[in-house]
Amino acid sequence: MAQEHREQWGSRTGFLLAAIGSAVGLGNIWRFPYIAYENGGGAFLVPYLVALLTAGIPLLIMEYTIGHRFRGSAPASFRRLSRPTEALGWWQVAISFVIAVYYGAIVAWGLCYAWFSLRQTWGDDPEAFLYEDFLQVAAAPGGITNYVPGVLWPLVGVWVLVLIVMVLGVRRGIEWANRIFIPLLAVLFTILVVQALFLEGAAVGLDALFAPDWSAITDGSVWVAAYGQIFFSLSIGFGIMITYASYLRRRSDLTGSAMVAGFANSSFEILAGIGVFATLGFMAVASGIPVDEVATSGIGLAFVAFPQIISSLPFGAGLFGVLFFVSLVIAGLTSLISIVQVVVSAVQDRLGMRRVPAALLVGGVIAAVSIALFPTDQGIYLLDAADHFINQYGIVLAGLASVIVVAWVVRRLPMLEAHAAKTSVVALTWWWRITLSVITPVVLGFMMYDSLRAELAQNYEDYPTWFLLTAGWGVAGAALVLGILISLIPWKNLPSEAADADGDGPGAGTAAAGETERGR
Ligand code: PHE
Repeated sequence: MAQEHREQWGSRTGFLLAAIGSAVGLGNIWRFPYIAYENGGGAFLVPYLVALLTAGIPLLIMEYTIGHRFRGSAPASFRRLSRPTEALGWWQVAISFVIAVYYGAIVAWGLCYAWFSLRQTWGDDPEAFLYEDFLQVAAAPGGITNYVPGVLWPLVGVWVLVLIVMVLGVRRGIEWANRIFIPLLAVLFTILVVQALFLEGAAVGLDALFAPDWSAITDGSVWVAAYGQIFFSLSIGFGIMITYASYLRRRSDLTGSAMVAGFANSSFEILAGIGVFATLGFMAVASGIPVDEVATSGIGLAFVAFPQIISSLPFGAGLFGVLFFVSLVIAGLTSLISIVQVVVSAVQDRLGMRRVPAALLVGGVIAAVSIALFPTDQGIYLLDAADHFINQYGIVLAGLASVIVVAWVVRRLPMLEAHAAKTSVVALTWWWRITLSVITPVVLGFMMYDSLRAELAQNYEDYPTWFLLTAGWGVAGAALVLGILISLIPWKNLPSEAADADGDGPGAGTAAAGETERGR
């Protein structure tokens, strides 16, 4: 089948908004504030900024450049970079598939909670409400015995919305969704933060968050936490940024865009830190408990602590709740869209399919798996195990493998650097190569070692071993094995650019330049 002309973003702003929409996710709102608080508070900003500059932005530039230079989904781009590396791309596609399946469920919970906020349906005991009434969680991990309609229908709604965006495509779907959602998120979240700052006790919370503990800087685990946060938060290692950059026009400023996206994401993270800790400060003061006992992250923060706080607000409780949960939903939705697109574009490139059938097929399969597994009494266990293992032994490991392969095995950094130099305003220097070939692999390698050690010392969350072997290790391992197997199947209809993009060395940078450009 003839290849459709590759889709393109309508403008640079459209691309940037989509890249920021992907980066700004649940991690910014419910992960960063607690990680910063736990790891030295104000002093954490030093390792965090170092991580941004020595790993986050350099890797972002690498992924943008690979996607832009080779104009393909993650597997297609890696294949054009060097044939055997195609497996890396499929590995990332499999990882994205897994994450999409459970991330959709969290977005659906957020949607329900936005609604519950209006009348504080969770009552006096939000924790019991979440696990018993709302999610109807089984007492232990095991077989699925019960379906939960209260989660099912919102989840169906989330997937219908995502499918519509996918079917509409890169420019009319993804770009438009982000053009609407990202400014809306900025406005809603800013109102939320202002309201939080007016709460009694806000200063106590901010003090707890920002008071620097300088001794943290000499602690290795704080540095690991900083690199981990940057890595997850910027959506690096998922194949997302390769995919999104493949829809850029030929002349696009890659390094400048990476800096804008990187700093925008971190700014949102700090804003979220202020909002979350001002609110936690209110709770601490109102209930006479120290901040360290109310501070949490993740599901506990969003779906237990925040409902508690919302119920005790002196005024504007409904508004505050809606602002918080709608922000969570928007942040999650724009990240979810980006991760589904990784899979859609890979299948599209691989099978030479048009967008609409590919979006319906891929989106339909992801939605079906998500809907089959998560609105059940086992949903939260599956989510917790898959999330932990796919992050550690999926994203981080794939990210580590891809820098090692690109920098040391196929040695393509000079070629990518030359490509970025051609299109970008800010040129790269030797510094970029050093960070990617030395700093990033060393830090990520150490992170890997560190988390494997903890994993082997004790079962994650004390879950039964059989459960971790299937839902945790099994899922992460299957992503890797599948990635390798799919890459071994020969491509029948190699897209036309592959042949010319396969050349070696920096000279190959011009190979695809003859392509016609739209909208110029
Ligand atoms: N950067 C996202 C976040 O902070 C990570 C993510 C991206 C997760 C895409 C899922 C899908 O939450």
